[in-house]
Amino acid sequence: MSWDSVGSTQPSGTRLGVVTEGSLTKGLTARLDPACSVEDMRVGRFVKIQGEQHDFFCLITDVMLGASNQQATEDPPAPGDHFLREVLSGTAIFGSIAIQPMLMLEKRPVDRVDPDELGGPRPVRTIPTHFAPVDVAREDDFDRVFAKPGDDSWEIGTPRDMDIPIRLDLDRLAERSNGVFGKSGSGKSMLTRVLLGGLIRRRKAVNLIFDMHSEYAWPREDQRGGARVKSLKELFGNSRVAVYGLVSRRPRPRSWPVDGEIRIGLNEIDIDDIALLADLLNLNETAVETSYLLQGRFGDGWLATLLDMAPADIKAFCEEVNAHAAAVSALARKLNQLLQLDFVTRDYVPRSSSSIEHVIRTLEQGSNVALAFGHESQLLPYMLVANVITRRIYARWTDLTHAADAGEGAKPPPLVITVEEAHKFLSPSAARHTSFGTIARELRKFNVTLLVVDQRPSGIDPEVLSQIGTRFTCQLNDDHDIEAMLAGVSGAGHLRSVLASLDSQQEAMLLGHAVPMPVVVKVRTIDDQFYEAVTAGGAGVVFPAGRRATDLVSLPDD
Ligand SMILES: Nc1ncnc2c1ncn2[C@@H]1O[C@H](COP(=O)(O)OP(=O)(O)OP(=O)(O)O)[C@@H](O)[C@H]1O
Ligand SMILES: [Mg+2]
Repeated sequence: MSWDSVGSTQPSGTRLGVVTEGSLTKGLTARLDPACSVEDMRVGRFVKIQGEQHDFFCLITDVMLGASNQQATEDPPAPGDHFLREVLSGTAIFGSIAIQPMLMLEKRPVDRVDPDELGGPRPVRTIPTHFAPVDVAREDDFDRVFAKPGDDSWEIGTPRDMDIPIRLDLDRLAERSNGVFGKSGSGKSMLTRVLLGGLIRRRKAVNLIFDMHSEYAWPREDQRGGARVKSLKELFGNSRVAVYGLVSRRPRPRSWPVDGEIRIGLNEIDIDDIALLADLLNLNETAVETSYLLQGRFGDGWLATLLDMAPADIKAFCEEVNAHAAAVSALARKLNQLLQLDFVTRDYVPRSSSSIEHVIRTLEQGSNVALAFGHESQLLPYMLVANVITRRIYARWTDLTHAADAGEGAKPPPLVITVEEAHKFLSPSAARHTSFGTIARELRKFNVTLLVVDQRPSGIDPEVLSQIGTRFTCQLNDDHDIEAMLAGVSGAGHLRSVLASLDSQQEAMLLGHAVPMPVVVKVRTIDDQFYEAVTAGGAGVVFPAGRRATDLVSLPDD
């Protein structure tokens, strides 16, 4: 092969070089054939080493220049001297790659061609011998390593510079909480769309999406190129996706239709919800204690009562329970901000007419819900609503699971809650008392898991991060965030360079439960081809247009 014929994407199966040194713990070094340019090597690409007894599926983790003859580098050829350069390359000077064996594969005997007859990939316990050949991995190698096409898998993208689909094992994905991380604009929401497409299409879970920026509920123009990005409802139809918005005084554009509106009564807000909002509401440490005193005295009407208290009422209450009047007045003043949110009502909201209850019923019946925040995309409404609803869902899912375990009724459907800005709910201080923290820590005990989407993974409680089943990491710039992504991953050192090499958009490193080994993928493009894959075979509209998800849900009379 000549220099010219080695393009930036070598065909699969191309010989790259041979193993020259290395160890199981530190990885291997392979010397490149003279025909292979170091410039064609890419960190994060896959290669296969053909050992004597096993094949090794490996990741390129570094690219290096070497010289066996010191003189060649001390007295380099003149810039235009191509002849001397070619004479030296491959002998006195050479390129090499650092490769990390990820999985061992049973060697395929010549007379057995069906990959299904061979055993699956196994963890690496040894290394290949000296001079074992290193090739670009082939499509059938990928097929042996990653999930096969079918109802239980979903294509997430392609490996670097290769046109081979990489599939996730959807059952394993839905089994644990998962996370999509990356700096702003790196493609988190698009990647989340790919994942939701798979979960909904293959009916692996019911989804509740706290759609802070109204990206999934309604169609929108893409910032890049202006293409129209379809909503989940357009893709899956009225019967499978219900859209909820928040009650708002500001008129909602016609292009933002909803199936139901969320209104939250003060009686539906709990002390835990208030505690989560402490920073946003500027509450001090005694605020939570004062709230407990109020709740002890007035029950679930405590918040409405507090906001209605005249100074004399506050004085009387403080004398009764031995509290500080100044602290109670300050708490009332700060919590009054909640009433400025249009969707928060002073009125007592009974369960029978609670819109939260309505959302829960929709989910229980197997419909996916996108809760679009529309004009209310600031943190205060977002965190309040997400926390109030998740707390109620968690309680319901726990009750239903306990009842089912006792032989009463069916288990609730597996539910995945997608939450953006996840570090706000899962910071070390918040994760201890939010339902989000509990759900992330409990794995899938009660059939509910999280899909956390975040640009600051270092802000998430390390204990929660360690429970995340599969991490999808797009480009991150902050060293703390990169460290957080690799914390607790054995032998993560070599992945740091891979993570640092990610493109600024639409590229992600997948690590964890749903993939057999860490892999860098170019994330599937959200385009007509993706929409077709998602809707193929009639996953689209089932109910006549205009039929609303709310028609499907009837609440029992309390
Ligand atoms: N898989 C993809 N298919 C098509 N376009 C993509 C894809 N990934 C990223 N892009 C492009 O990159 C842009 C940013 O992606 P996205 O909105 O998903 O980023 P983000 O990480 O969610 O950003 P933010 O933190 O601001 O929410 C998109 O508007 C789109 O133009
Ligand atoms: Mg986003």
